[in-house]
Amino acid sequence: MTVGTAISRIWPTPATGPLTDAELATLYGRADGPHLRVNFVASADGAVTLDGYSAGLSGEPDKRVFGLLRMLCDGLVVAAGTLRHEGYRAVRLSEPRRAWRREHGLAEYPTLVVVSGSLRLDPTQAAFADAPVRPLVLTRSAVEPPPGLTEVAELIRCGDDRVDLAAGLAELRRRGLHQLLCEGGPYLFGALTAADLVDELCLTVAPLLAGAGPGRITAGDASPPRELPLRHALAADDGTLMLRYARE
Ligand SMILES: NC(=O)c1ccc[n+]([C@@H]2O[C@H](COP(=O)([O-])OP(=O)(O)OC[C@H]3O[C@@H](n4cnc5c(N)ncnc54)[C@H](OP(=O)(O)O)[C@@H]3O)[C@@H](O)[C@H]2O)c1
Repeated sequence: MTVGTAISRIWPTPATGPLTDAELATLYGRADGPHLRVNFVASADGAVTLDGYSAGLSGEPDKRVFGLLRMLCDGLVVAAGTLRHEGYRAVRLSEPRRAWRREHGLAEYPTLVVVSGSLRLDPTQAAFADAPVRPLVLTRSAVEPPPGLTEVAELIRCGDDRVDLAAGLAELRRRGLHQLLCEGGPYLFGALTAADLVDELCLTVAPLLAGAGPGRITAGDASPPRELPLRHALAADDGTLMLRYARE
């Protein structure tokens, strides 16, 4: 992509000069084994949205890393709430990014995985209807899909009263989706944290104060704190920080 705002590494070793897409892809990388990476953008005062959406927080540097993280994953996991609210479209990648995937022996597109307890999903939403790869829906038993959903997506039922996320992720890995990227939202992140399933958090901090009102990047039931060491810190010329935390 055309790069207007330079991104540089500032920690652990400051690097001179802006990072290329290839260098960014190497810095974020793909893990050796099964791995769940979560990606969020927040304001400097911790808001998850501006005027109800993430778009107001996401400048060009965040969009660049957001796209690169999609390029690196096998499965793109998103909660039904975020899919509905943000009006997710079909997962598309530019030709250079598809070429990168082919060169690295990956499927041309990652598989979209939607997490929904209610199956209140619209099969005509572009995320399903135009998907280049048939999306998967992690749900629970005995929930009736709306008409047309099973024509555009495959249901994976795991758990009775609630979606058993550990079982769901294990099934995704059984199907070859080892590197998972979760794009939120807050309730799904909270549940993944509570189940101790998060290996990595990529957090973009936008240089602005959103003020009181919006929630945090995590929501739902409380869970014990978990250590997650910082692995790198990048800074863009517009003041955006891109932080990568990951467990050993
Ligand atoms: N700043 C960012 O990077 C970022 C990223 C993503 C989203 N957001 C923002 O977050 C907001 C959307 O959040 P939200 O409150 O709707 O939360 P959410 O976590 O996106 O969605 C909640 C819904 O997703 C499904 N879900 C989530 N966790 C589940 C679990 N453990 N088991 C079963 N189903 C689960 C359920 O769908 P069903 O109702 O179908 O059961 C639930 O009602 C939007 O304003 C969006 O803009 C911001």
